[in-house]
Amino acid sequence: MITAHLTIDPHFVVGPINRRLFGSFVEHLGRCVYDGIYEPGHPRADADGFRQDVIDLVRGLGVSTVRYPGGNFVSGYRWEDGVGPREERPRRLDLAWHSLETNEIGLDEFARWIAKVDAELMYAVNLGTRGVQEALDVLEYANVRGGTTLSQQRIANGATEPYDIRMWCLGNEMDGPWQLGHDTPRAYGRLAMKTARALRQVDPDLELVVCGSSSAQMPLFGTWERVVLEQTYDEVDFISCHAYYEPIGGDYGSFLASAVNMDNFIDSVVATADHVKGMRGSDKTINISFDEWNVWYHSRYAEVDRITDPQEWPVAPRLLEDVYSVVDAVVFGNLLISLIRHADRVTAASLAQLVNVIAPIMTEPGGPAWKQTTYFPFAVTSKLARGVALELKLDCPSYETEQHGTASLVDAVATHDAESGETAVFVVNRSLDESAEFIVDAALLGQVSLVSAESLYDDDIHAANTLSAQDRVRLRPNETARLADGELRVILPPVSWTAVTLR
Ligand code: AHR
Repeated sequence: MITAHLTIDPHFVVGPINRRLFGSFVEHLGRCVYDGIYEPGHPRADADGFRQDVIDLVRGLGVSTVRYPGGNFVSGYRWEDGVGPREERPRRLDLAWHSLETNEIGLDEFARWIAKVDAELMYAVNLGTRGVQEALDVLEYANVRGGTTLSQQRIANGATEPYDIRMWCLGNEMDGPWQLGHDTPRAYGRLAMKTARALRQVDPDLELVVCGSSSAQMPLFGTWERVVLEQTYDEVDFISCHAYYEPIGGDYGSFLASAVNMDNFIDSVVATADHVKGMRGSDKTINISFDEWNVWYHSRYAEVDRITDPQEWPVAPRLLEDVYSVVDAVVFGNLLISLIRHADRVTAASLAQLVNVIAPIMTEPGGPAWKQTTYFPFAVTSKLARGVALELKLDCPSYETEQHGTASLVDAVATHDAESGETAVFVVNRSLDESAEFIVDAALLGQVSLVSAESLYDDDIHAANTLSAQDRVRLRPNETARLADGELRVILPPVSWTAVTLR
């Protein structure tokens, strides 16, 4: 049995938990939009054609922001194709995903859906094939109250109130050779700077996200962030991070330590942003929008034969429909731990993505919608992580990994909400074969009681929820949790994720 000791001191604060940490992402990709959130013929479709069962699941997930409409898709997207009378909307080639885009859903419909799920819309502009003018146009359409051609067009299309979108992404993954219009950091940085300045002339208070590297493995990682920020520092609020993880060659030891990589990634980007801050003598701090993160079996996607003839590109094909197992969900829960641990600098994040495409929610056309294993850690963390993130020192044994160096066998984070008096602890046991006794010295919290303890684990770490077994994996109450004399003790099964609440 592994032993892990933790001391919680509510005075040791990392930073406030921004609700935007629990954002997600809807891209026009595969069946995320069409046959995902939107399926007009479905028995549970509402008057707008949106699936009510999906809306209920999204609400249950506790998603704060939703990034839209891409992703790689946005770098070839013409936003105006998606507004106005549906029968007049063009059908376009989507070069990113070799699909046919019908434009049945666009900004107005998506804004209606966002209101139904009670989330905040975060909008990405196309800086791949387009530029400053189109970004200004969509801002005018979305946010200007009225009295201009584009704002009046929105009103004529049925949206009398502006959408007041606060967060805008200046393109997507512009360092990636797969991206339409991908460029050097200098060229992209200049375009992002010009676009940001123009957008700010309409509204100086917008919150702007400039593209960082599309992963820490990119050849220009670090240089990209520095050069882009040197040009945009005064104009933007966030730099983006994107990271996806999967087990490579069956190396589950490394996979379970993916959050170590995420921690290092965040620390590097913070260091680079602060380097530029220092060089400029600026008193402004750039934070991170970790606006794509997840487990993603890239290797499965690489095996898919792409249809080369554009005449044959399908509408909403089944793409990136990864089925998540228990071990995937444990890694996923650990990634959330990493984000919370950096709450002082990661002030927005988007789980990529939300429905069907590398998603916590799956649907069948005309059929059910169900929760993948990853749904549970997200929903519970979003619900319980309130107030501030606490700085922790965890005393526990570690192990060596092929890919991420030394990793502790147990990893945890805690949050404390002074208002409700609740403290939440999120913890994973990364060991493949040993349980861990997790001992938390909670004496500094004063008189507290144990409110709940739930774990995600299974004898079969590859167990998953599927169409034919939608409830195979669920959260289980952790009956081992005990609080006595200010000390919490809980047994963490091998490859498990646990959330404990004290009040
Ligand atoms: O989320 C899937 C894809 O991953 C996004 O379109 C892109 O931004 C990233 O490479």
